[in-house]
Amino acid sequence: MTGGEFMSIEVDFTCNGNNVKMKVEDNWTLLYLLRDILGLTGTKEGCGSGECGACTVIVDGDAVNACLYPAPEIDGREVLTIEGLAKGDGTLHPLQNAFVEKGGIQCGFCTPGMIMSSKALLDENPRADEEEIKHSLAGNLCRCTGYVQIIEAVKSVSLEGKEEIKVVAWQKGGESQEVR
Ligand code: FES
Ligand code: FES
Repeated sequence: MTGGEFMSIEVDFTCNGNNVKMKVEDNWTLLYLLRDILGLTGTKEGCGSGECGACTVIVDGDAVNACLYPAPEIDGREVLTIEGLAKGDGTLHPLQNAFVEKGGIQCGFCTPGMIMSSKALLDENPRADEEEIKHSLAGNLCRCTGYVQIIEAVKSVSLEGKEEIKVVAWQKGGESQEVR
């Protein structure tokens, strides 16, 4: 980047629950902002062109490819990255536990994107079935696992086919162990 070619824009947004006010250049992507400026390197850069899903984060509830998302557009929005999923005491999110338990992680490069896409899906549709999970993860590529374990991991967290009594526990904010 050479000085003077790009415009600085003030943005005010929420990142993993923290308010962030800063200037961004109008040619930055959200991925550059997260990784290179804020140091949130859990979000990965694969293709850089919207093809692999490694850079998936959640913006205002929707899974987006951060590599295609213009940084200035984050103004006024809420972004959640993989760093924002575990609790402050280190307790992993149910999806993170499921990926570990079901063997949905090998090299781990695709994992943050897979988990963020899965979270956006289950937040929207807690009872997502296998076809819905596959459809939702179609834009997330994995070179290692063959996808079976990944789909199994997300299915294990979905409420699809689970008992009603456990659904109530989930809806009232119960821990993941109560719904599985
Ligand atoms: S790095 Fe964004 S989709 Fe591949
Ligand atoms: S675990 Fe290696 S790319 Fe998915």
